[in-house]
Amino acid sequence: MTHQFTTLSAAQKKELHETALRIVCPGKGILAADESVGLMAKRLAQVGVENTEENRRQYRQILFSADDRINGCIGGVIFFHETLYQHSDSGVPFVKMIKDRGILVGVKVDKGVVPLAGTCGETTTQGLDGLSDRCAQYKKDGAVFAKWRCVLKMSDSSNPSKLAITENANVLARYSSICQQHGIVPVIEPEILPDGDHDLRRCQYVTEKVLAAVYKAMSDHHVFLEGTLLKPNMVTPGHSCSTKYSAEEVAMATVTALRRTVPPAVTGVAFLSGGQSEEEASVHLNAINNCPLIKPWVLTFSYGRALQASALRTWRGHKENQKAATEQFIKRAEVNGLACQGKYTGGENRTDNGEHVYGSTHAY
Ligand code: 13P
Repeated sequence: MTHQFTTLSAAQKKELHETALRIVCPGKGILAADESVGLMAKRLAQVGVENTEENRRQYRQILFSADDRINGCIGGVIFFHETLYQHSDSGVPFVKMIKDRGILVGVKVDKGVVPLAGTCGETTTQGLDGLSDRCAQYKKDGAVFAKWRCVLKMSDSSNPSKLAITENANVLARYSSICQQHGIVPVIEPEILPDGDHDLRRCQYVTEKVLAAVYKAMSDHHVFLEGTLLKPNMVTPGHSCSTKYSAEEVAMATVTALRRTVPPAVTGVAFLSGGQSEEEASVHLNAINNCPLIKPWVLTFSYGRALQASALRTWRGHKENQKAATEQFIKRAEVNGLACQGKYTGGENRTDNGEHVYGSTHAY
C-alpha cells in the first residue's frame, strides 16, 4: 500500500487553496492569453497581421489594458513565456498591469504536444524536463498558477486509446505535483478535441473515461486537489455531428460527466471554449450553471478564442481600432462573468453568427 509522505506543509496547502479560490471566486473566470508563438502566427494571419514579437505585444496590450470593468469578471490571466516579460507602450510590465488590479498571473508551462508512437495519430505533451526550475523562476516573476494542456482525439472506435488516456493522465499528474511543490496552482487541461461526427453521448462517455483516469493519476501522485483547478472540454457533439442538441442537453451531459468523475475537493472547473463561437460558449456556460443537479465545484470559464475572437477581428493590426477591440474583449468578459453565475440572459450582447471560431485542431 502506498504511503502518502507529507510533501506539502499546512501553510503550503493553505496558500494553494486560497490561490485557487481567488482565481475562480464567484463571477470570475480565466482569460487564456497563452497562445504560443506558432499559434499566434495562425491567429494573426487570419486578420492579415505579421507574426512579429512587436505585433504580439501590441495585441496582448489590447487585452491587458482593459479598464476596471474586467476586475469583477477575470480572476486570472494565463500568459505565454514571452508575454510574461513584455511591457506596455508606456513601459509598465504586463505582469504589473494585471496584478495591480487584483487579477492573478498564470503561465503556460508545457512545451506542446508530440506524437505518441504506435498510436493512430495520438499525442502526449512534453515539458517536464527542467519544469521544477522554471516553476521556481516563474513564481519569483509573479506567477501563482500554471497551465498544462494535453490533447485527446476521438474517433469511431480506436481513439482515444488506453495508452493515450493513461499517458496523458500521468503527465498531468506529474506536472501538478511539481507545480504544487513551488506554491503554484496547476490548471489541469485534458482537452478532448471536438473534431469528428460523434454524438453527445459518446463525448460524455469518453470525457468520463478521461477524467476518471486523470483523478486516479492525481491520487497516485499525491496531488492536493483543493489546490488545483480543472480545465476540461464541455461535453458537446462533434463539430460534424448532424444531430443538434440544446444548451440544456449539453449542460446535463457535462455536469453528469463531471459528477461521476471529479472529486468535490477540486476547487473549481474552468472550461475551455474549444472552438465554440463566443456566444455559444457563454450560453453553454450559463446553462451548465443552471443545470438542476448538485454541483459541488465552481463552474466557470478559462476561454481563449471565446474571449478574444471579436477583439482580434476588430483590431486587425490598426492602431485606431485598439480601443474598439478592447471594448469587444470587455464585453465578452462581462457576459461570461454573468454566465458563470447562471445569470446571462443572452440576446443583446450577441457579437457573432454562432459560427465556430478558428476551427478546432489547434495547439497552444
Ligand atoms: P480555447 O478556449 O480557445 O479552447 O482555449 C483555451 C485554452 O487555453 C486551450 O489550451
